[in-house]
Amino acid sequence: MRLNDCHNIEDFRRLAKTRLPFPVFDYIDGGADDELTKARNISAYDTVDLVPDVLAGVADIDTSCTILGRKSALPLMLSPTAVQRAFHWQGETAVAKAAERFGLWFGISSLATRSIEEIAELTSGPKLFQLYVHKDAGLNTNMIERCQASGFDALALTVDTIVSGKRERCLRSGFTTPPRFTPASIWSYATRPRWTLDYLFREEFRLPNLDTHVSEGSSKPVSIAEYFNTMLDTSMDWDTAAAIRQQWGGKFVLKGVMSAGDARRAVDIGADAIMLSNHGGRQLDGSRAPFDQLPEIAEAVGGEIEIICDGGVRRGTHTLKALCSGATAASGGRLYLYALAGAGQDGVERAISILKDEIERGMRLMGVTRIGALTAGKLRNRPLI
Ligand code: FNR
Ligand code: LAC
Repeated sequence: MRLNDCHNIEDFRRLAKTRLPFPVFDYIDGGADDELTKARNISAYDTVDLVPDVLAGVADIDTSCTILGRKSALPLMLSPTAVQRAFHWQGETAVAKAAERFGLWFGISSLATRSIEEIAELTSGPKLFQLYVHKDAGLNTNMIERCQASGFDALALTVDTIVSGKRERCLRSGFTTPPRFTPASIWSYATRPRWTLDYLFREEFRLPNLDTHVSEGSSKPVSIAEYFNTMLDTSMDWDTAAAIRQQWGGKFVLKGVMSAGDARRAVDIGADAIMLSNHGGRQLDGSRAPFDQLPEIAEAVGGEIEIICDGGVRRGTHTLKALCSGATAASGGRLYLYALAGAGQDGVERAISILKDEIERGMRLMGVTRIGALTAGKLRNRPLI
């Protein structure tokens, strides 16, 4: 399978599966427990239908919108995801450049394999930093100050990862950061020589936003679950979030809000946006899908805070449905990660360009020329059979 054979996100998933050793593929693809939430995040979009208008004169359409004070060419963001160097040697660099080329927001994780400074140097496009609150308070302050000095446009505090979800594929594969060859997986690495040679002989795997303070995950291999459960601060609460909001001072996002009550509290502490998210089904399995929860959230805080609907987006029409339901924008991780893993920057660019086409085509077929015209009137719940 080649890059040119990929015409949708599922195709990139298949490409990634052929190119990656299974522990790495399963880390990206997998969710928690029975992976019910991961599946529901996607299928939730099938429970509503679009109602198009015709003869609307759609020669010129404008897909742009404003997210967190910066223009975005599409109502779609690339969510922050960890350890991208493990997926493709180009890592976060590929995603940053692809996002800049298409005029989109992207995020880097606290567990990024490129430094805050390198990313800032690479692109003047809109970018956010995702913060995990560590027990080591000095590390948290260090990351926030580096983002301030580098001119990051927003800080997203992830709040759904107070402990790690139970990711059974990772338990079975023994995936660690940095990746390690184990007796059970060595064959899989040996039969994916391109990945393995890139991993061994290109630049060293590092977590440069953390390794000034902690060796776990960089020079000391640990599972992601072990990292979360030993390094992160389980006492984090609303006062912590409010204090970080103050300390940061710039555009502030709470990532992983699901309930209307918490969305209200996000408004109260002065957050600029929430990412309505269950972490791509990787944390609390059985959690409701962001898209299912969106009408309730929009009813509670719509107009007071930006609502970014994160997870399960695999089609342009999913983005249109999220906007009709009250989201400012949609966002996703796997929608670009499979492509990164399969073909680096070229892959990410092809994935974004496919979603861009799908959004544009969808708008034209809906009779909509601007993002603001995507409203609840264009959506119907599918009758239960
Ligand atoms: C993530 N996600 C994530 N979120 C976060 O706040 N910090 C992180 O470091 C990561 N890392 C990460 C790695 C991988 C491999 C995945 C798939 C996801 C969650 C991410 O930001 C986003 O919420 C989900 O990816 C949304 O679900 P979809 O779009 O992948 O279905
Ligand atoms: C994950 C992290 C790192 O979901 O947030 O694997």
